[in-house]
Amino acid sequence: MRQTRHLLSSLLFLSVVLLSAGELCHPDDKRALLQIKSHFDNAYFFNSWRPDTDCCVSWNGIIQCNETTHRPNLTGPIPPSIARLTNLEYLTLTWNNLTGPVPSFLGKLEKLIFLHLSFNNFHGSIPSSLSNLCNLGSIRLDRNKLTGTIPSSLSAIRGNDLYLILSHNGLSGKIPESFKDVDFGQVDVSRNKLEGNIFMFFRPNKTTQIMDFSRNQFEFDMSKLEVYNNLIAFDINHNKIYGSIPVAMTGLRYLQNFNVSYNRLCGRIPVGGSLQRFDYTTYFHNRCLCGAPLNVTCS
Ligand SMILES: *[C@@H]1O[C@H](CO)[C@@H](O)[C@H](O)[C@H]1NC(C)=O
Ligand SMILES: *[C@@H]1O[C@H](CO)[C@@H](O)[C@H](O)[C@H]1NC(C)=O
Ligand SMILES: *[C@@H]1O[C@H](CO)[C@@H](O)[C@H](O)[C@H]1NC(C)=O
Ligand SMILES: *[C@@H]1O[C@H](CO)[C@@H](O)[C@H](O)[C@H]1NC(C)=O
Ligand SMILES: *[C@@H]1O[C@H](CO)[C@@H](O)[C@H](O)[C@H]1NC(C)=O
Ligand SMILES: *[C@@H]1O[C@H](CO)[C@@H](O)[C@H](O)[C@H]1NC(C)=O
Repeated sequence: MRQTRHLLSSLLFLSVVLLSAGELCHPDDKRALLQIKSHFDNAYFFNSWRPDTDCCVSWNGIIQCNETTHRPNLTGPIPPSIARLTNLEYLTLTWNNLTGPVPSFLGKLEKLIFLHLSFNNFHGSIPSSLSNLCNLGSIRLDRNKLTGTIPSSLSAIRGNDLYLILSHNGLSGKIPESFKDVDFGQVDVSRNKLEGNIFMFFRPNKTTQIMDFSRNQFEFDMSKLEVYNNLIAFDINHNKIYGSIPVAMTGLRYLQNFNVSYNRLCGRIPVGGSLQRFDYTTYFHNRCLCGAPLNVTCS
């Protein structure tokens, strides 16, 4: 059985981890990994990846990385040889300077659970082939230069605890209607150029807890949102959303973060629940909202 399950390159290490200990990694996996090393011009980062050592034992171990630690500094496109690691479950290539598209061949990594490519320079559109990855749970493509629309085929993804993080890109168009059938745990599409509505995320049986749609061009009647109880964080600041705040929002028991500022909302801020606990910046810069916590009395 092939053992290579994880390929993690965050800031420090691109790493291969054995889930069942004591076995050598498969020669095919080793060959593919060495190709990846050579694709990146044997960057210093890969020094421990030597053909004469056991890739599962002596090659860099997993280290949780972040922007404060030093970076592997990988540049250029993702090499096609990654597609040969068919047992890969976790692919994290965040905080590098990778360029080119998010390659369509990632759709061949059928066991992938995490796809984290945040903080790079990827451009082009999100490949619809990602819909082949039916175990995919966590998709983080934020902080790149992605453009085009979000493929509707992404609704085929059925992993547990789905995270869809696409913020800080140049994505445009509408959110696919097919997303009405997906129950995300968290959605962040903030700071793009998306338009239309977000009603597909608001169906009675959804359990999504955190949603950030801020700084886009969404334009819809907020009073038509069918809110549901699980919502903890909901940010829609800086859009073109009109209508009024649904009275049902007073019933959201877990709501902790809420921001509807910089839209075109009108009418009385419903009284009750957490809605008066947020300060006026949650509501300011709208067309004609009134009532507490704003200083505007309703006529
Ligand atoms: C970044 O990673 C280092 C090393 O693993 C760790 O000590 C530090 O707490 C992390 N910082 C943050 C902000 O996560
Ligand atoms: C990446 O570049 C930074 C800044 O140039 C440097 O400090 C760091 O050591 C480099 N990391 C590696 C793994 O070479
Ligand atoms: C990333 O790569 C581009 C092109 O190779 C280069 O111009 C840029 O300085 C790099 N940025 C960083 C942060 O290394
Ligand atoms: C939503 O939940 C209700 C009650 O739990 C159930 O009857 C209904 O079939 C569910 N609808 C969907 C679309 O899952
Ligand atoms: C709401 O968003 C606006 C715009 O980004 C910001 O200025 C304000 O501080 C936020 N308020 C809260 C309570 O999050
Ligand atoms: C609201 O009114 C009070 C009392 O008049 C004043 O102290 C406060 O600065 C006002 N707040 C805003 C955000 O205008």
